[in-house]
Amino acid sequence: MKLAVVGGGSTYTPELIDGFARLRDTLPVTEIALVDPATDRLDLVAGLARRILARQGHPGRIVATADLDAAVADADAVLLQLRVGGQAARNQDETWPLECGCVGQETTGAGGLAKALRTVPVVLDIAERVRRANPDAWIIDFTNPVGIVTRALLMAGHRAVGLCNVAIGFQRRFAARLGVAPADVHLDHVGLNHLTWERAVRLGGPDGEDVLPRLLAEHGDTIAADLRLPRPLLDRLGVVPSYYLRYYYAHDEVVRELRDKPSRAAEVAAMERELLAMYGDPALDEKPALLAKRGGAFYSEAAVDLAAALLGGGGAPYQVVNTYNDGTLPFLPDDAVIETQAAVGPKGALPLPVAPLDPLYAGLVAGVTAYEDLALDAALRGGRERVFKALLAHPLVGQYAYAEKLTDLLVAHNREHLAWA
Ligand code: G6P
Ligand code: MN
Repeated sequence: MKLAVVGGGSTYTPELIDGFARLRDTLPVTEIALVDPATDRLDLVAGLARRILARQGHPGRIVATADLDAAVADADAVLLQLRVGGQAARNQDETWPLECGCVGQETTGAGGLAKALRTVPVVLDIAERVRRANPDAWIIDFTNPVGIVTRALLMAGHRAVGLCNVAIGFQRRFAARLGVAPADVHLDHVGLNHLTWERAVRLGGPDGEDVLPRLLAEHGDTIAADLRLPRPLLDRLGVVPSYYLRYYYAHDEVVRELRDKPSRAAEVAAMERELLAMYGDPALDEKPALLAKRGGAFYSEAAVDLAAALLGGGGAPYQVVNTYNDGTLPFLPDDAVIETQAAVGPKGALPLPVAPLDPLYAGLVAGVTAYEDLALDAALRGGRERVFKALLAHPLVGQYAYAEKLTDLLVAHNREHLAWA
């Protein structure tokens, strides 16, 4: 079984390789092609990847290449984890929205729109080449903004599933707090990518006992502290929002904080320099502890599970993925992409039925879905007016004067990435 990782030179890759090495019974991989245009970085990452496999006695082969077509040839699944424009572009996304008093974040708000515009055309081009090489290959998209990118892939007819580590992060942390195995924790996880709530935490499966009230009663302070939201808010909601909801529920507070500190992109860039220096050390043969400070914890486990299920080998029976709504949330269009529990197998992801969504959350989900629709239109067809409309529709922008100014800033900072600008 061969996998290809596009953006294989990412500092996250050792996390992924470590997962493939540890979970080889779930997914027996014989070859992993790491593809990246940044070959210096790729060589460092591939070197460590080979040492990780060797240390764990994994017989798989790591191929490092800048040639996408060679990398995806014969691949059974292709993982997309690229970042168009690198941390430098992310730094812009996190900075210029603050000029309008709007949150600066790589996936949420105006910065997320910029990332979508840069990314969708590149990902669609890659997917086309994957399809030409092997029409049966699965595309697993971890490239942000995952909701919009996955919808672009699905609308173009690709065999794609979108993946994010937020749900598996909650599952693993709740399991640890409850003292049970992660596989025994089933989340009622609902919403859109980076706009989700855990409404129940069930033991044993979708019909198991809901222990969320107990978790909140016993661990509410820690959960609230992790999310940096007030404990009383969690108690009043009775659900656990993902940390991306803080950009909504505490928007102005976040803007004030962001104005006073270096961007996450700057922090990550510094961490990446340190990580790459470590990766170059021939004595290192495991993923370094520093990698845990990145946001992608448990990404590897989620990716292994998803690839295993899609390729027919196993993996968890239910997984949280991004896929077409298809009536799951009846107030959204069928072709909206939602993030939800799904039964995953060789035919793809089939969302499990979900209980009706409280208006407290449904309004935001509908608003952001409309924004995502307009954002995808802007990414596919370009043009200042489409960017403006997407921003006007975004619940965190909304006012025409801000939408106007943010459009100008977005275009000015992304000209080299936008064919039409
Ligand atoms: C989480 C999100 C990812 C995002 C990452 C950022 O893992 O689910 O979508 O890319 O955080 O982490 P970073 O360490 O780059 O800030
Ligand atoms: Mn994510």
